[in-house]
This record gives sequence, structure tokens and C-alpha cells, in this order.
Amino acid sequence: MQTRRLCPAIGTEIVGVDLSNPVSDETFEQIRKVWHESNGLVVIRDQKLTEEQQIAFSRKFGKLHTLQGHTVTKYLHPDHPEIYRVSNKVVDGKPQGRKGAGTYWHSDQSYEATPAHASVLYAKEIPPVGGDTIFASTQRAYEALSDTFKAFLLPLKAVHSFANASGGGFRNEVVTKEQLDAAPPSVHPIIRKHAETGKFGVFVNPGFTAYIDGLDPAESRAVLGYLFELVTKPDYQYRHRWSPNDMVIWDNRCTLHYAVMDYDGKGDRLMHRCTVIGETPLPASV
Ligand code: OGA
Ligand code: MN
Repeated sequence: MQTRRLCPAIGTEIVGVDLSNPVSDETFEQIRKVWHESNGLVVIRDQKLTEEQQIAFSRKFGKLHTLQGHTVTKYLHPDHPEIYRVSNKVVDGKPQGRKGAGTYWHSDQSYEATPAHASVLYAKEIPPVGGDTIFASTQRAYEALSDTFKAFLLPLKAVHSFANASGGGFRNEVVTKEQLDAAPPSVHPIIRKHAETGKFGVFVNPGFTAYIDGLDPAESRAVLGYLFELVTKPDYQYRHRWSPNDMVIWDNRCTLHYAVMDYDGKGDRLMHRCTVIGETPLPASV
């Protein structure tokens, strides 16, 4: 197994592993170590994987999310509910996945009480141009804060809401009242301690973070506005140009991502995502 850093702030490419074979615990621990050391982003190219093989590999990270009752349930793979499909393809009038998923900065399912931990995204079809995904390290963003501002943020919590995205990222979806009721907002620490590495990161995102608990609305807007600007600075980013058979694994506890929608009408894009359920976000104080 060889590794190559992709960007100063985030991301490592791993070569020399074949995820179609059952991955031994030892190899998996090596991958996880590289993942943590690169601020939660690993790229593994040229993987020829069946749905079953992607699911088996993803399960090594933990229990998978099947997005039942969610507004995107209709985009799950018909034979494998563990796989959520992101695609602009329409076959016989039927969308092959959610079009325009994640075209805003977010951390997967941050509005849930136990948001996603790893997301394992596999490229099946990629348009000839466009369709990149940008990733950002929220740990690097945290490191850039002054000690005084860190101390101010430390006890604060923010409300993450799916309804927030229904006015933004989910604006192209029909979201029913039942689906909104099934996804109540969650309150999470703004400075989140990573459960495995102990590193601190800024756990807010423009897609789902609605407001800071206990602040006046104008204060909340000002502070979140600054944090959103900080966590989306190019200095902390890596931009992935996909090829078919690429596997990208990100850690939603310490990264954000943004899907660039610049390819509509220029080619087909089809992605398969497995989502690992995470833990209750830890405050920095534990
Ligand atoms: C996702 C997502 C980004 C992309 O699958 O969670 O945001 O580029 N996708 O498809
Ligand atoms: Mn996403």
C-alpha cells in the first residue's frame, strides 16, 4: 500500500489496495489510520466493485444508514437499500438517483441526532467534463481561530435542520410534511471533538446549520456568517476530479463537501453512496 498526499490541508490517495477482495482487519486499520492522518479524506482509484463489495467494505466502518422515511428514499438502489444513488440520469422517465444532491456545503445528515460518520462514494459514470466534488477540512478551520474566539465558541451549540436545506439544497425536491416531521432538528456542539482522534473541528455547515442556540438572531447570523466563510476557505480544500471506478471516503465529523453542478446536459453522472451512522457529536469538553 502506497500513499500520496493530495493537498496540504486534506486528503491522501491510497494505491495498491483492491477493495473487491475482503479487506483484512489489518489492511482496514491501515486505511483508517491514513484517513485520520489526512483530516478525513481518502481517495482509492481503479476499483471494480459490485454493490455487494462496496457494502461489505463500507460496513467495516460501522452500521450503515438506509435512509428509510427520508425524502431521498426513492433514490435508494432498488436491490440494495444500503446504497443511495446520486445521478442526473433519467431512464424511461425514471430518475436513476437524486439529481443535484449536495450542491451546497454540508456534512451528511448533520441534522440527525447521530449524523453520518463515513460516507463511501463510488463513481459508476462520470461526464466528460465537470461534476467535481470539493472537500474541506473543518479541523484546519478550527486551528485558524484565535484562542479568544475558540473560548467563546467552546460552550455554544447550533441547531441543524433538514428544513433549512429544504429552502436551500433540497429546493428541487418535493418534501412532504411527514418527511419534515420525521426529521426534527438536532442541536450539536459547534466545536466538535473527533471520537477517534480527539482533534477539534468546527461543526457547522451552510446547508443544514440554522442558528446558534442562545444568541440573538442577528448575533447568530453574524457568527455563523463568519464561520461559514472560514470553513469554506480554499486553503482547507481538496477538489476531486472523478474518474469512473474512483472510491472516495470522507469523514463527516471533520469535513464538509460540495458537489459542483456544472455538467447538466453535458453527460451522465451516476454515483453510489454508502453512509455509515455515527455517534452523538462530542463537545470539546469531554
Ligand atoms: C453525497 C454528496 C456529492 C457528489 O453523496 O453525500 O453530497 O459530488 N455527493 O455527488
Ligand atoms: Mn453529501
